[in-house]
Amino acid sequence: MSSIISVRGLNKTYASGFEALKNVDLDIRRGELFALLGPNGAGKTTLIGAICGIVIPTRGTIHADGHDIATDFRAARAKIGLVPQELATDAFETVRATVSFSRGLFGKAASPAYIEKLLRDLSLWDKKDAKVMTLSGGMKRRVMIAKALSHEPTILFLDEPTAGVDVELRRDMWQMVRKLRESGVTIILTTHYIEEAEEMADRIGVISKGRILLVEDKATLMARLGKKQLTLNLQAPLAQLPTELSGQPVELSADGTALTYTFDSQGEQTGIGTLLRRLNELGIDFKSLQSSESSLEDIFVSLVRERA
Ligand SMILES: Nc1ncnc2c1ncn2[C@@H]1O[C@H](COP(=O)(O)OP(=O)(O)O)[C@@H](O)[C@H]1O
Ligand SMILES: [Mg+2]
Repeated sequence: MSSIISVRGLNKTYASGFEALKNVDLDIRRGELFALLGPNGAGKTTLIGAICGIVIPTRGTIHADGHDIATDFRAARAKIGLVPQELATDAFETVRATVSFSRGLFGKAASPAYIEKLLRDLSLWDKKDAKVMTLSGGMKRRVMIAKALSHEPTILFLDEPTAGVDVELRRDMWQMVRKLRESGVTIILTTHYIEEAEEMADRIGVISKGRILLVEDKATLMARLGKKQLTLNLQAPLAQLPTELSGQPVELSADGTALTYTFDSQGEQTGIGTLLRRLNELGIDFKSLQSSESSLEDIFVSLVRERA
């Protein structure tokens, strides 16, 4: 798959002297849903801003669909839709007018039919004649999405799309994102809600303190870094972990009623058989067991902590 966005050696030092992006290289594949994960202040909005031409890089190059952002800005920007983190709309305009106007800004011929479809898809059609300022926060966010899609971009950036958004809008938003992706639009979203990335993304990039720490297929990342745990609920509590089990990846819960065994989900042998035999030899009975897998959240937290 060819890359639709390519970022090379990107640096951004703000006027304050703060270095928000440090030598970022990133390729986004055509048609993928890429989630950029990172804690607050990691540089996500700065990176998106640079790709969308809002933030002027200190160093480095960016291409979007073959167009150099610095030298061929209009052509590059016409391919891109951006739903910014902050709500910013033309408060005094009607919904339909502000979305139609956005389309015009990108030099696209008017298309009332497309705008109608867009507003219907976003449950905004009923509000088409309402002034933007009269809408609720959730509705304003829908307007932001409609504006971002007004010129039929092939690349869509969503910067923290679901931060502070109600359940209904979040659900609609994901449905819409899925549909767009199916129609071939490349989607890049930033989030610090990891479940979202876990559910939606094809690939995940992790950014922390202005550096890209890794970029990987979601499935590979989960398999590579994922650990599994087996928890045994004991018949009778133990006062302490038997010495026969010390030195093994086994922990006793504080109340002594459960043993947790951690193993590598990728490993050849899990060691569970050996563990169970040993427990049997020790006369430790258990009444139930359950296994769990580390979530992307666990992986992410440990990664950011490790490299901090
Ligand atoms: N205009 C600016 N001037 C100086 N520092 C900035 C500016 N914008 C952002 N920063 C700083 O750059 C860092 C990255 O910010 P940002 O890209 O917004 O992170 P994120 O979106 O991941 O939360 C933060 O420490 C932020 O305070
Ligand atoms: Mg941000």
